[in-house]
Amino acid sequence: MRGCRQVLRWLSTSTRYPVSGLPPRPIQWSEQRRLFTSSVARLARQAQTAKTLSDLEKRIAAIPIERYRNFCIVAHVDHGKSTLSDRLLELTGTIQPGENHQVLDKLDVERERGITVKAQTCTMLYNYKGEDYLLHLVDTPGHVDFRAEVSRSYASCGGALLLVDASQGVQAQTVANFYLAFAQGLELIPVINKVDLPSAEPERALEQMRTSFELDTSKAVLVSAKTGLNVDQILPSVVENIPAPVGDSKKPLRMLLVDSWYSTYKGVILLVRIFDGEVKAGDHVVSFATGLKYTVGEVGIMHPEQTPQCVLRAGQVGYIYFNPGMKRSNEAKIGDTFTRVGCEKEVEPLPGFEEPKAMVFVAAYPTDVDDFDRLEDSINQLILNDRSITVQKESSEALGAGFRLGFLGTLHCSVFEDRLRHEYGTKILITPPTVPVRVIYKDGREETITNPVHFPDEETLHLRVQEVLEPCVLATLTFPDEYLGRVIELCEANRGVQKSLEYFTSSQVILKYEIPLMQLVDDFFGKLKGSTKGYASMDYEDAGWKPSNIVKLQLLVNKKPVDAVSRIVHYSQVDRLGRQWVTKFKEHVERQMFEIVIQAAVGRRIVARETIKPYRKDVLAKLHASDITRRRKLLEKQKEGRKRLNAIGNVVIDQSAYQAFLAK
Ligand code: GTP
Repeated sequence: MRGCRQVLRWLSTSTRYPVSGLPPRPIQWSEQRRLFTSSVARLARQAQTAKTLSDLEKRIAAIPIERYRNFCIVAHVDHGKSTLSDRLLELTGTIQPGENHQVLDKLDVERERGITVKAQTCTMLYNYKGEDYLLHLVDTPGHVDFRAEVSRSYASCGGALLLVDASQGVQAQTVANFYLAFAQGLELIPVINKVDLPSAEPERALEQMRTSFELDTSKAVLVSAKTGLNVDQILPSVVENIPAPVGDSKKPLRMLLVDSWYSTYKGVILLVRIFDGEVKAGDHVVSFATGLKYTVGEVGIMHPEQTPQCVLRAGQVGYIYFNPGMKRSNEAKIGDTFTRVGCEKEVEPLPGFEEPKAMVFVAAYPTDVDDFDRLEDSINQLILNDRSITVQKESSEALGAGFRLGFLGTLHCSVFEDRLRHEYGTKILITPPTVPVRVIYKDGREETITNPVHFPDEETLHLRVQEVLEPCVLATLTFPDEYLGRVIELCEANRGVQKSLEYFTSSQVILKYEIPLMQLVDDFFGKLKGSTKGYASMDYEDAGWKPSNIVKLQLLVNKKPVDAVSRIVHYSQVDRLGRQWVTKFKEHVERQMFEIVIQAAVGRRIVARETIKPYRKDVLAKLHASDITRRRKLLEKQKEGRKRLNAIGNVVIDQSAYQAFLAK
């Protein structure tokens, strides 16, 4: 209010005492208002800067880079990463105890399902032995689908807490994420969590860490993230064991783009790690990847919400956005390096990240055709925050216009589906997931096919195709040995090839199988959990493309293929799947005046068939029972009539039948 009064006073004086020598000029109302608003905004900005400078920023400014620590938590899904992060934030006063749980799980779906999808970062101030430390905690996803996200976050860290659940011990993802962290040279601190559980066996978990990772467990911290027991011992260990980032604030700016998200008002917001130099509002920066130049609008830290700062310096992780804002999110290339305009020659860009490729595809259609535009908007909004998703428009006779979406894995896909439903309330139909196949033609041409509609027909396949390849993965499965028989059976039934079998404790098995990705996306993980009472854990890595007997299975309705219902499958699956299709489709189709023939076919070979009989009018209703010749005549006439109808009539199947059939 004081600021407003000051401005009004200033406005009134400026009209009373005009600039000497010039005739007094009355200030228009619109101009007065403009001057008033801009001055209020300036005063408000100054007040805010003064406030932040006085407390948080002054403390941060006094911390040298030697007292920065950037770290993350490496763990298997559900071992308690997010809970532990909450405790650490409480301990450092970043959030109030019990105020907000799972702070770093920002997406609704993350909170609901209890899984982390996007890496989140938080800056904390920690006083250790009388000195302030600036800690950056990066919460990473644990699931294999988000491996790219995980390795990106590791790149901005100097060390990690290797977190293992005391009752479950080392699991498949702990192993995979450990190797990823180890390969990036991170300093690892073993932490055993959930020691409060009656089933906790911390000694066994420590033993596994020693044997599988050759880690020195003398520094291990045994905690309960839930009750807070011993959590205060973690940060001293972080300060003492994890190296400070290296960087020089005096050098020209070298800034790595780690993540980005979209805000309607500010445009694309970038999460960056400053390697050298510093960045502040008003700086002109340039991207090495695109060559585009921007003016920095605001810089700040995640504390845990966006907290504006005057400057971000070498070693820090923080956010920046531009003014005018970055409009298109594809300008923000994850792994890109930015520098100050004019320093392009002096600065060596950082090695970027490998772009993850979509490996699981689904088609999505609005259940109501009029909703297409809304669905398109929703999808576009969502992919702004997750550019690993690929989108192509497609249309199908049976279902109308829709989209073909590509994901990193099945969890990624189902999380996206949930986000669409929860965050936008859009009703959509999603087809079962498929994987890409690679077709090698005899003339040397190669084609990667993600949509069954583009798969070569039977004739082309025989005459012009050399071979068809499918993607395979090397799956690592860990589980108690009593389930070994069942797991092997499951892998073999899914065209798996055994690669190795090891015991890493007397009762825990590590089994490696090469499995086609096509089998994996067909709810393999669900089946694995089913046959091991939920004890198995799984991780996988890319194992390349392998030749395979791949065909296209189609659904025919009265001999006409239904384009929305075709799938690229392995030859061994066609009979089972074909039978399933026709039986399921029959359930959803209503009887009509004509006979409806439902078939599943590979090329010209029909693998399964069901028939829906037409309605039959009782032409004999009014007839006397003994009149046999008349009776035969009427039935013959009805048969004739139906033949004619069959020849000219075409069944119209309601869209809802396809929707019901395709719904999971
Ligand atoms: P992702 O984000 O999916 O990787 O999972 P996460 O590792 O972050 O696990 P999260 O923190 O969501 O914890 C998983 C479950 O374990 C939750 O139900 C927690 O309440 C529970 N939990 C976490 N820490 C402890 C603990 O110390 N003791 C007990 N008893 N339960 C815990």
